[in-house]
Amino acid sequence: MDLVLDELKVFSGNGHPELTQAVCDYLDIPVGQSEAFKFANDNTFVRILENIRQRDVFLIQPTCAPTNDNLMELLIMIDACKRASAGRITAVIPYYGYGRTDKKDQPRVPITGRLVADLITAAGADRVLTIDLHAGQIQGFFNIPVDELTAMPILTNYIKTKEISDLVVVAVDIGISKRARDVAERLNAPLAIIEKRRLGNNDRSETLNVIGDVEGKAALTFDDEILTGGTVIHAADALIDAGVTEVYCCATHPVFSVEAPARLAKSKFQEVVVADTVPVPSNKRNGKITVLSVASLLGEAIYRIHKGNSVGELFNI
Ligand code: R5P
Repeated sequence: MDLVLDELKVFSGNGHPELTQAVCDYLDIPVGQSEAFKFANDNTFVRILENIRQRDVFLIQPTCAPTNDNLMELLIMIDACKRASAGRITAVIPYYGYGRTDKKDQPRVPITGRLVADLITAAGADRVLTIDLHAGQIQGFFNIPVDELTAMPILTNYIKTKEISDLVVVAVDIGISKRARDVAERLNAPLAIIEKRRLGNNDRSETLNVIGDVEGKAALTFDDEILTGGTVIHAADALIDAGVTEVYCCATHPVFSVEAPARLAKSKFQEVVVADTVPVPSNKRNGKITVLSVASLLGEAIYRIHKGNSVGELFNI
């Protein structure tokens, strides 16, 4: 039987419908018709409202807050598509929640990032498309192909337009230093690193030490995500204490706890630049926060996966 994989279908969960719409605008196709809601007993229900038999289906759903609801909805959407005889199902997860729980670094703790990968695979996904995983090794948690894109070119191209002179890129902790080095290379700037030690499991962090030459320079901190803002705000304070003239922030995922936008507004940052891998509603925006869209990046990647073209070329934009 011939597959009709030449027909591309993109559906959205409730995680980020605006991003799905923007991706479909890029692809010049309508968003697929579906519904996903909860019954009074809190059970999630999904229905695909059009024929997807043998189609090439992409389901866009960041597993951001409400994380468990969004994850469960994604799993049920995959199941619905599998049972509707989709030809191929790609889970498009712009932000991979639970990615921070990626190793057994204390006794008797889970590796939830791996568990979620198993769930997505068991549900019936054939491939995953994601952006800036907390650690690249999470790709290996899946036994299906994973395409990991990066928002780095989008963030750095924006920073370039600001023409900041004498810039130093700062990794806010040692774990992010390799990716911060890539940012520094893209911006033709030197790299400094902040040594940070996390205190317990309660989202608080402590900044200890700036490693590198930052005095008299403008600094750009880089991290993969901002949750409470504690990590980057402490980094900004440490950098000002170390003699930087001004400090900017860029991070891929604006996970933003309730208090994060106000904390960022009061911080020493000139500007905080993030991507829209996670929705940033108007009540979480303020004059310091700039949100750049990954819609065309995702749209182009979906188009290339659909056509069987290289996705790697997208890293050179
Ligand atoms: C941690 O390993 C991550 O890379 C981020 O630094 C962290 O998620 C940021 O969290 P917060 O904004 O709460 O400090």
